[in-house]
Amino acid sequence: MKALVTGGAGYIGGTVAAQLAGLGHRPVILDNFCHSSRKYLPPGIEVIEGSVQDRPLLERIFEAARSAGDPFDCVLHFAALIEVGDSMKRPEIYFENNTCGSVSLLQAMVNAGPRRIVFSSTAAVYGNPEEIPIREDARLEPTNVYGATKVMVEQTLEWMNRIHGLRYASLRYFNVAGASEDASGVVRGEAHDPETHLIPLVLDVAIGRRPSIRIFGNDYPTPDGTCVRDYIHVTDLATAHIAALAALDKHERIVCNLGNGRGFSVLEIVEAVRRITRHAIPVEVQPRRAGDPAVLVASADQARSLLGWQPRYTDLDSIIRTAWEWHRRRYAE
Ligand SMILES: NC(=O)c1ccc[n+]([C@@H]2O[C@H](COP(=O)([O-])OP(=O)(O)OC[C@H]3O[C@@H](n4cnc5c(N)ncnc54)[C@H](O)[C@@H]3O)[C@@H](O)[C@H]2O)c1
Repeated sequence: MKALVTGGAGYIGGTVAAQLAGLGHRPVILDNFCHSSRKYLPPGIEVIEGSVQDRPLLERIFEAARSAGDPFDCVLHFAALIEVGDSMKRPEIYFENNTCGSVSLLQAMVNAGPRRIVFSSTAAVYGNPEEIPIREDARLEPTNVYGATKVMVEQTLEWMNRIHGLRYASLRYFNVAGASEDASGVVRGEAHDPETHLIPLVLDVAIGRRPSIRIFGNDYPTPDGTCVRDYIHVTDLATAHIAALAALDKHERIVCNLGNGRGFSVLEIVEAVRRITRHAIPVEVQPRRAGDPAVLVASADQARSLLGWQPRYTDLDSIIRTAWEWHRRRYAE
């Protein structure tokens, strides 16, 4: 399988591209490096520097492959801006990059490319869900611009399927975490710039790069008062993408949550990092942040039934241990 992997220089896209290559498939990465560097690129994979917003470039890529008798079979679309807080300050940039960029990619696919796409959606499409665990048929009411950009792409995909027969899988990830080693021995873990994700931030405290971890709100209606989230290991997430590509042989459109179906609170994460790193991890409690739902936990039934997929990392410590190993190595370099 030859796959265009947009955003393949990033944390998740890079992991999936490496896993595809390890299985003998042929990923080609397209990234504009706006939030990544060449340092963590999976080795031995063709890389094109460019933006998904550049439709003529995308059409040239698809056409060149086709006229060489080696067309793309599918697209895995990870490229996006992902910072929720930033999206609430610069909505126009997020709609332009995430929504318009995806539409530009879909247009190029319809004009010259493959008719099969796996799209990185997010639990942020649900906003404050009424029921936990969250099923895929829950109302989509994002509470931030980032989530709204993804809902719009999901809706566009639905119409592109009905009108152009484009097959798609919208995979709604919950909190992706952990590090993985690819077939060539390269270990890749979570690194965003700026970092806003909880596990790398707590690990930063353990490594001495931050004095303490800020907890936003300890008065939520949860067992210990802090927010509860569902964490999925990046290797399991990558496996689900490969399963989704195969499932598109049978199903024209797939909408699936990707989570473990189990929630952990912010304090449970801090405790797990304390256990694993043997560091005290001072915490600093701050007021709640606007728009943070108390609990986000996936119903993982649909992924099991449609994709035949099961996560392998189901306990928190094993997820955090892989993240810690990578984090330590990263800053020891
Ligand atoms: N990390 C998570 O927990 C999480 C959760 C839910 C959904 N997602 C989604 O997964 C995808 C990947 O996230 P990630 O954590 O790997 O983020 P990341 O920032 O590490 O990767 C995103 C990559 O996309 C690239 N990119 C951005 N805009 C681009 C453009 N216009 N053209 C080409 N490349 C562009 C960036 O340079 C970066 O390499 C995103 O779509 C994100 O919304 C992530």
